[in-house]
Amino acid sequence: MERLRGKTVLVGVTGSIAAYKAAELVRWLVKCGAGVQVIMTRAAQQFLTPLTLQALSGRPVLTDLFDLGLESEIGHIHAARSVDLVLVAPATANTLAKMACGIADNYLTTVLLAVEAPVVVCPAMNHKMYTHPATQDNLAALRRRGVWIVEPASGPLACGEEGHGRLADLSLILETVCRALTPQTLRGKRVLVSAGPTWEPFDPVRFITNPSSGKMGFALAVEAARRGAHVDLVSGPTALPDPPGLITHHVTTARDMEHVVRMLAHEAHLVIMAAAVSDYRPEEAAPHKFKKDDADLEIRLVRNPDILAGLGKDKKPGQILVGFAAETQDLVRNATEKLHRKNLDLIVANDLTQPGAGFRTDTNVVKVLDRGGGVEEWPCLSKEAIARRLLDRIEALGTT
Ligand code: PMT
Repeated sequence: MERLRGKTVLVGVTGSIAAYKAAELVRWLVKCGAGVQVIMTRAAQQFLTPLTLQALSGRPVLTDLFDLGLESEIGHIHAARSVDLVLVAPATANTLAKMACGIADNYLTTVLLAVEAPVVVCPAMNHKMYTHPATQDNLAALRRRGVWIVEPASGPLACGEEGHGRLADLSLILETVCRALTPQTLRGKRVLVSAGPTWEPFDPVRFITNPSSGKMGFALAVEAARRGAHVDLVSGPTALPDPPGLITHHVTTARDMEHVVRMLAHEAHLVIMAAAVSDYRPEEAAPHKFKKDDADLEIRLVRNPDILAGLGKDKKPGQILVGFAAETQDLVRNATEKLHRKNLDLIVANDLTQPGAGFRTDTNVVKVLDRGGGVEEWPCLSKEAIARRLLDRIEALGTT
């Protein structure tokens, strides 16, 4: 989560049993390179000591609005001014109600009234308290004011009951923080991204595939969602968890991928095909596992559909199509040929012979080619950084 590097996040911890999870949250934020300033309410200190969060954040925890030392410089106003984002996790019904009414009776609620940075709140409480009309009205008021709400999860609650009220998963909270820190330049747009390999079976347990891990495509889908787009990620089989906050469609073969991509491409403003789609498939898949004998085995391969070329043929006016090309020789010539043959706006060419480029790595080395013959050469970057830069480049085309 490079988006968090160098940011200052103020974490407000309030008095819910889920307060202990704030320790893990603070640890993750620090690990991602954020500076973390913690404020705890008096009730939160009943569940977790300030010392724990001080040790994890590396900064004194703010607790007392009337601390003579800190308030000599009007510390709550300084805290509100100096942060990039405020994260209230867990947020109790009581703190949500105070926020909705503008009550400022402790360090956290006072800072929340003074802050201009984005605010993310993560409610956690008994499910009846959560669904109570008062809490729901308060959440609606906060939402209207632009506060980001991370919905609680369902499941067993500390009170012994089951329901909606558990603090959301850490990964969803961190992703929402990244979104709240990202300019919403793709809000209202639909983005379709493909990722991963395809599997082309020749019996129930064997298939032809390639080493794509899905990392490049997933990074693009996540970045587009952070910019506010509605994102559909169509992924071949990978070991990656579904990214939070977008829709992942799982497919296996190239023909499955074609079916789902064609269905979704219809409404997409932007399509990015980062998947490594198998160009060939076995003509037939045997219904049972092949038995070994001494004879050689011959498998006839037939062409798979070229999904991207099909989209290029039926391209909607204003739609942007971006392809990837994985090459081992004549990078620019081969990628340029694909750019024009598939009717693309941009193609991202990875040179698989370069260290740090292509399949499985966390980095990539690419050249970005446009229809006017422009070639941009990018240094070795993380796939997350490539995703950011590529979306900036796409937005600069002006039609998304
Ligand atoms: O998943 P990772 O491990 O992170 O690796 C990333 C990657 C190397 C897979 C990725 O960066 C990449 O280069 N993806 C495209 C690889 C590829 O299949 O290139 P290609 O030159 O065969 O295809 C050109 C374009 O046509 C691609 O956008 C591809 O998705 C598309 N295509 C290809 C064949 C086919 N039958 N249908 C297609 O739509």
